[in-house]
Amino acid sequence: MKVVIIYTTITGNTKELAEEIFRIFCRQSVDISIYRIDEFSVSHLHDYDVVIFGTYTWGTGNIPKEMRTIYREFEVLERKGMITAVFGTGDSCYPNYCGAVDLFRDMLYVHTILAATLKVELTPQRQDLHRCQKFVESIVKRMK
Ligand SMILES: Cc1cc2nc3c(=O)[nH]c(=O)nc-3n(C[C@H](O)[C@H](O)[C@H](O)COP(=O)(O)O)c2cc1C
Repeated sequence: MKVVIIYTTITGNTKELAEEIFRIFCRQSVDISIYRIDEFSVSHLHDYDVVIFGTYTWGTGNIPKEMRTIYREFEVLERKGMITAVFGTGDSCYPNYCGAVDLFRDMLYVHTILAATLKVELTPQRQDLHRCQKFVESIVKRMK
């Protein structure tokens, strides 16, 4: 099975989280690729069995602008058998903590097989590594 992580970041928190998740997948000998959203062509979505999104939250709990096209693509993709997951970083000072993760979660739950979600407060800390590990394990379990 081919797995891809597609993420977006401005200040680097979500990039750090994406790279940690990527490293954990590599240790499990999974065929995995990682792309920043601006390097990924939506036309390549069909090459993957498992798609994992990483996003920060913007505005008042919104999905960042650069993630909206791929979000809408999934609403019409007709790949109900595709396994997906979503992770993100946010700041709990905002009323809608990691709101973009919630929006992706709700949409992916309807249109795909949603395997896992993960929210991390700003920069990933040591205690988040265990949560990343669990996140990856939940996805890998669905792939079997
Ligand atoms: C203008 C602005 C709006 C934000 N809105 C939210 C929000 O609604 N919910 C949230 O959890 N975090 C919010 N954040 C925090 C970011 O999502 C958080 O800093 C995130 O870790 C940034 O990710 P990045 O380092 O990958 O760019 C906001 C940040 C800014 C600057």
